[in-house]
Amino acid sequence: MNHIVAICPGSFDPITVGHLDIIRRASHMFSKVIVVVMPNLSKTPSFTPEERMEMIRAATADVEHVEVDYYKGLLADYCRQKHAGAIVKGLRAMSDFEYEFQMALTNKKLNPATETVFLTTSAENMYLSSSMVKQIGSMGGDISSFVPGVIHDKIKNRLLGKDE
Ligand code: PNS
Repeated sequence: MNHIVAICPGSFDPITVGHLDIIRRASHMFSKVIVVVMPNLSKTPSFTPEERMEMIRAATADVEHVEVDYYKGLLADYCRQKHAGAIVKGLRAMSDFEYEFQMALTNKKLNPATETVFLTTSAENMYLSSSMVKQIGSMGGDISSFVPGVIHDKIKNRLLGKDE
């Protein structure tokens, strides 16, 4: 095993089985994986940062050497603080590519010490996104195969407005 610290950043609003698959696979490749919840200024969140962190902790309880954190500054600065060698992101369809490529190049410019590594998403998660989960869940659809079982009820109730 190498001694590289990897960062898995995202808005995780909420974490899906697709995210969890990437985190799990990254944990086999790097000596430490920090899953960091960050604000995405172009999205309106349904869960607070604390709730998102709590859900990630519950979903990754059985994954070794994973930490969960929150940071509201630049990802490149966070990586510098943590001496991270890699940013790990899942890449789904071509539609992700341009946005992810732009972020990777920008982060590399801001912090040349950290490389962005893309893991190919598993075929069954190709279409999955937190926005899709929120849309389906808020309309009463079945989201049980899209989100980790341990946090399913919390997500479902929030999306249906049953926990307010
Ligand atoms: O899960 P998302 O919403 O696709 O994650 C996007 C995220 C949070 C990783 C991205 O918006 C981000 O890196 N935000 C932190 C601010 C930052 O560093 N912006 C410049 C990146 S090019």
